[in-house]
Amino acid sequence: MQRADVGAASGTKFLLEESQLPRRWYNIRPDLPTAPLPVLHPGTGAPIGPDDLAPLFPMELIFQEVSEEPEIPIPEEVLEIYSLWRPTPLLRAHRLERAIGTHSAIYYKYEGVSPPGSHKPNTAVAQAHYNKKEGRTRLSTETGAGQWGSALSFACRLLGLECKVYMVRISYDQKPNRRSMIQAWGSEIVASPSEDTDAGRAILAVDPETPGSLGIAISEAVEDAAKRDDTAYSLGSVLNHVLLHQTVIGQEALAQMELAGAFPDVVIGCVGGGSNFAGLAFPFLREKIAGRDTDVLACEPAACPTLTRGPFAYDFGDTSKLTPLVAMHTLGHDFVPAPIHAGGLRYHGVAPLISQLVRDGLVRAEAYLQNDVFASALEFAGSEGILPAPEAAHAIHGAIRVARAADAEGVERTILFNLSGHGHFDMSAYDRYLEGTLDDVALEQDEIDRALRAIEGLPVAG
Ligand SMILES: Cc1ncc(COP(=O)(O)O)c(C=O)c1O
Repeated sequence: MQRADVGAASGTKFLLEESQLPRRWYNIRPDLPTAPLPVLHPGTGAPIGPDDLAPLFPMELIFQEVSEEPEIPIPEEVLEIYSLWRPTPLLRAHRLERAIGTHSAIYYKYEGVSPPGSHKPNTAVAQAHYNKKEGRTRLSTETGAGQWGSALSFACRLLGLECKVYMVRISYDQKPNRRSMIQAWGSEIVASPSEDTDAGRAILAVDPETPGSLGIAISEAVEDAAKRDDTAYSLGSVLNHVLLHQTVIGQEALAQMELAGAFPDVVIGCVGGGSNFAGLAFPFLREKIAGRDTDVLACEPAACPTLTRGPFAYDFGDTSKLTPLVAMHTLGHDFVPAPIHAGGLRYHGVAPLISQLVRDGLVRAEAYLQNDVFASALEFAGSEGILPAPEAAHAIHGAIRVARAADAEGVERTILFNLSGHGHFDMSAYDRYLEGTLDDVALEQDEIDRALRAIEGLPVAG
């Protein structure tokens, strides 16, 4: 069979030496064609300054949030911990290509080799480092799928900080082993909504059976940090500095694609809050903004179709309206997505930087049903061997669709996707799929309209 191999090196794994670990994070802000809209104070509606954020975050992260520097050096302590698993491998999916009979070349960057099993420690380690440096001894956070909670627990354990994790109720019940992992690294963990915060108690009073959501868990973690001087809040996605820290992925992938003798026509990632997608895509978007022709595709669940069906608007990052207002694609801050098994993709908003790139036409998005996504996950597991996290399986599904579309058109594409994590703690989801009991959730337009009433009266994103 003829393939998109012209000029490409043969081989399966494209590996970098430890000495080739990127020493700087790439900041996309100065390269954006349209400047991001200002973040607004939740009370006054005026643009916020560093002092407004100081109770929640260390100053260095606040500076990174608004920095216009094109690159930011990675501290030595962070590099030293990164070197436990970075650089991560980039693989050519020869076996998947054969299994689906495509003429396109498919590559994937595998972030599941980190100790907690996903891309999340790329920012967890950096955040723990800056908090420790500025005197905080404890971090609070939310977790959906459990990957972020594990990553922050891991980082806090290695850097000697305490950590409290509010885990979305549905994932807490579905993933007892993620809970154990978080506890094994010494963190405290509670199901969210919980009785430990005002925000949690208020939601439980109205709906004691709620599956929870990332928006609710964020409210609890923010409240925890706001009430204690020793504690800062740590977010695993969405914010500019989180996306920044993830850009080690794409920088490595650029070098590895060069080793492979190829450049991707299509770059693909799944999107919850947007951090793994940004991590892979931003360094390639730098090339795209400079004139290179690359299609950049964000994949999301049909049950939480923020980029494909949510408007670009000012909204809160959490359900209880404690966070600042940010301009982003949103389904409304009190939208509680159906309890699909890609828990890390159940978030009502998407990172402002990615939302802006979608608005500017540099990134496009598609939404998929979970049974289709699990079918692609098993196609991948059956050929490449790795059992992917259900979140990452959205990117696999996107890659397979792009390859099939290219075959139908009679063209060969070079496709690169981010395999953001393994699914070893998601086996109950695989059980449900194999039993045929996984529900596909088609979200009705009136449900979206109802959820979006929550943003009526908020400042308009011009
Ligand atoms: C493996 C994996 N991929 C992707 C995501 C989605 O998050 P983000 O969009 O920030 O990468 C998560 C979130 O928990 C995850 O665990």
